[in-house]
Amino acid sequence: MKSNNNLMAKIYDPIFYLPLKSIRIAVMNELLKYKEKVILDLCCGTGNQLNLLSKHGFRNLYCLDISDSMLEIAKRSNSSIKIYNEDATKTSFKNKLFDVVIISFAIHEKNRNTQQALIDEAYRIIKKDGFMLVVDYVFDDKTTKFGRIVISMIEGIAGGEHYINFKSYIQNDGLLSLIEKDKFKLVKYNRMSFGAVTISIYQKIPLF
Ligand SMILES: C[S@@+](CC[C@H](N)C(=O)[O-])C[C@H]1O[C@@H](n2cnc3c(N)ncnc32)[C@H](O)[C@@H]1O
Repeated sequence: MKSNNNLMAKIYDPIFYLPLKSIRIAVMNELLKYKEKVILDLCCGTGNQLNLLSKHGFRNLYCLDISDSMLEIAKRSNSSIKIYNEDATKTSFKNKLFDVVIISFAIHEKNRNTQQALIDEAYRIIKKDGFMLVVDYVFDDKTTKFGRIVISMIEGIAGGEHYINFKSYIQNDGLLSLIEKDKFKLVKYNRMSFGAVTISIYQKIPLF
């Protein structure tokens, strides 16, 4: 067992399935042209995003999370998704395996070192010229007041270290401050949920 949080796993889909539905669909639409490609959801939680992809004909899907409880739910989908119970900052995957790595709502909740390690690991396992698709929060002049209040409330309820990390992520310019420009190039950027959520697609820049 790597990590267990039964309660969170049980309430995650009942609470977040509907609010996240339009985001899941938007992510799928971005990925339609990669249907035949190898796609990993890093920190996949209950596997909700990949289930949607699987239902729409994506075939090479990998789901990785550190929580047994989240993955127990992911396994119920009974699809061909390959499931891994591992730490996303040091996976067992070989270099340059995936065409696309998704990291969805998984960066903001971690401390700075873990955030950086997660992105570094994604870089390592993405193929030359492959893509990283990140879904996460942003608070800036395009974020509505309502969006800020709702997201801050949700993160406040999560509490503890999660909330401290969220506040620090927001104060430190979020994803922008974590992406190294010589490693990833931003190729597409969408905003949703009252301007508080972004879907960012980065292309890997191979170092050699
Ligand atoms: C907020 S949930 C997001 C889940 C999913 N990606 C989504 O969009 O709904 C964050 C997930 O990250 C997982 N997680 C946290 N630290 C991790 C780590 N070091 N390695 C792998 N998964 C991790 C948690 O278990 C949790 O399932």
